Amino acid sequence: MDMPTLTIGNVTSRLPIIQGGMAVRISLAPLAAAVAEAGGIGVIAGSGLTCEELAAEIRAAKAATDGVIGVNIMVAVRNFADLVKTALAEGIDLVISGAGFSRDVFEWTREAGVPMVPIVGSERVARLSERFGAAAVIVEGADAGGHLGTDEPVRQLLPRILDAVSLPVIAAGNIVDGGDIFEIMSMGAAGVQMGTRFAATVESSAPVEFKQMYLDATDEDIVIVNSPVGLPGRALRNPLTVRLDEGTEPRIQGCIVCLKKCGKQFCIMDKLVKAQGGDVEDGLVFTGGGVARVHDIPHAKDLMDRLVAEYRLASEGVTA
Ligand SMILES: Cc1cc2nc3c(=O)[nH]c(=O)nc-3n(C[C@H](O)[C@H](O)[C@H](O)COP(=O)(O)O)c2cc1C
Repeated sequence: MDMPTLTIGNVTSRLPIIQGGMAVRISLAPLAAAVAEAGGIGVIAGSGLTCEELAAEIRAAKAATDGVIGVNIMVAVRNFADLVKTALAEGIDLVISGAGFSRDVFEWTREAGVPMVPIVGSERVARLSERFGAAAVIVEGADAGGHLGTDEPVRQLLPRILDAVSLPVIAAGNIVDGGDIFEIMSMGAAGVQMGTRFAATVESSAPVEFKQMYLDATDEDIVIVNSPVGLPGRALRNPLTVRLDEGTEPRIQGCIVCLKKCGKQFCIMDKLVKAQGGDVEDGLVFTGGGVARVHDIPHAKDLMDRLVAEYRLASEGVTA
């Protein structure tokens, strides 16, 4: 069986695969455009960018492909409204929001005629999203990379979200290969969102040190940190996470007030920027629960082709 297409509002992608938005500066135009060009939905992470930077990324992605390009912006960032409005002005195809819930974004996207897709971690937020006009929801489990809005794995949460709403439901968390995609879609998901697998591609803007850490990781290297965003986050153990665990990380020196509300345990922006700059000792390396199953750094197009082939095999009952 071939993968079905994915329709979200007025947008259809040939493949039901969304490349998850990854901040800060991990999923930019090169990755989003490559995924979109290969038939999926490519997503630029807007959190941590200025409006000018986001506009430039959207323009670069749109110049490179006619495929579907979305943005992911965390509600928790102070310039959320400006980033969303910038993306809409640049003709973005889809808006995805995570790390919080915004009522206003439904109005801005509706006025622009652009589908709005919140990331949800409970039936309550899924229903709320449907009521406010979401075109689809992404249910992200506790096994996903980045900030986590639930303590349940996606395979446990998905059936309840499917019951709760009549929108397309896209699932995220520990989805790494085409067999996983077949499994999740057989449960009723309309598509998948994958982060970790795409962070380790040639087109990802993660530095080589970050990608190598993914290749070397085992399940024992995965830790949960308390992010100042007010949510737990899944990351790879390094000297930073050890210090955070021990309570020995020095207090924040300066602050650019990037979040609407900050717990100030550490500066999330500084640590994500550091990781993206190649400092994987003092930076925060977010990852999903399936990182130990990532063994190579393919081009995004080759990865997409592989996912399609694995999906087909899984649908024919062939296991890898
Ligand atoms: C390095 C990294 C950065 C991420 N940044 C964001 C982000 O800025 N906003 C967001 O909503 N999700 C973020 N995520 C979550 C992904 O978009 C995606 O939902 C998640 O990675 C899916 O789980 P998986 O990694 O197991 O595939 C991030 C994930 C990773 C691995």
